[in-house]
Amino acid sequence: MFASKRILITGGLGFIGSNLAIRLVKEGAYVTIVDSMISDYGGNLFNIHPIKKKVHINFSDITDKNAMEYVIRDKDSIFHLAGQVSHVLSLTNPFPDIDYNITGTAVLLEACRKYNPQAIIVFTGTRGQYGSSIKLPVDETAHTNPKGIYELTNLTAEKMFKVYYENHGIRSVLTRLTNIYGPRAQMKSNKYGVVNWFIRQAISNEQISLFGDGLIKRDVVYVDDCVDALLSLAQREACYGEIFNVGDDKPWTFKQIVSKIIELNGYGSFKFTPFSEERKKQEPGDFYSDISKISAAIGWKPTTSFTKGLRKTIEFYKKYKEFYW
Ligand SMILES: NC(=O)c1ccc[n+]([C@@H]2O[C@H](COP(=O)([O-])OP(=O)(O)OC[C@H]3O[C@@H](n4cnc5c(N)ncnc54)[C@H](O)[C@@H]3O)[C@@H](O)[C@H]2O)c1
Repeated sequence: MFASKRILITGGLGFIGSNLAIRLVKEGAYVTIVDSMISDYGGNLFNIHPIKKKVHINFSDITDKNAMEYVIRDKDSIFHLAGQVSHVLSLTNPFPDIDYNITGTAVLLEACRKYNPQAIIVFTGTRGQYGSSIKLPVDETAHTNPKGIYELTNLTAEKMFKVYYENHGIRSVLTRLTNIYGPRAQMKSNKYGVVNWFIRQAISNEQISLFGDGLIKRDVVYVDDCVDALLSLAQREACYGEIFNVGDDKPWTFKQIVSKIIELNGYGSFKFTPFSEERKKQEPGDFYSDISKISAAIGWKPTTSFTKGLRKTIEFYKKYKEFYW
């Protein structure tokens, strides 16, 4: 369905964006990536190694109005993934979140309003926009009560898309992603995706620290399943202007997640450790997604078992460790 389509991916050198780019190139799309390669963020040129000759990379920042006005012009679809993505970092420095997640999104939307109002935009927000859950699984009608600036700026960005859809007819699909894991993620610090961080520690044979008693529940989704969801949502007109959870309604405890990683890795160990003050304040408790809305709209649910997804992920990082450690 994307053959010969012109696609822009903001943040396309990062984890989810690069997996999306690889898939789109396979489908015959013309892919342009905008990524400013902010140091310590998830951008990594090795991520697009298999398609490096087949994509166009624009090393611009999404807050650069001129660059964005130029690059969005002829695109059929835009996947907006660039942003500050660490909820831990946003606790001590809110400005990158405000600059990239809010201002950057406003720059993209204004550029589209002026020069490409036909484009379909897919935005990747976060489950963190809900905050603590009152009822599980969490569906899209649940209250939003973000616990940090990262989550708050994502909610603001999501609401801006709604406003531009309603006021200017800019069509977008708004997703709230759960914990995504898989190949091509940033693994240099524990401030980013937790499952990938555990995998790095297991491979390095470092003892994994589990906060609390390890019994908090989370849903996790393999990156290929996430990419499937983003691509399908972009193509379904009935989804425009709507919010969708991209998650799983079958949760795991952190202890189960870590035990499974250690089992499949073949070695490793873990210990329990008390929450730090800053982590305790941000911890929303049990969370898993109600995915009945997205299932009804596009027939999506995760199809990669946790065992299979973990096996593929561990294998990838063992093979390409030098590019991620
Ligand atoms: N990975 C997850 O588990 C997860 C969960 C919920 C939501 N999300 C959302 O999905 C999106 C992608 O996440 P990811 O895990 O792939 O992150 P990532 O850090 O791997 O990728 C983000 C990319 O955006 C680029 N970027 C950041 N700010 C930029 C700017 N101002 N201008 C241009 N490029 C910029 C970075 O260089 C990086 O390559 C983010 O919006 C994130 O909030 C991810």
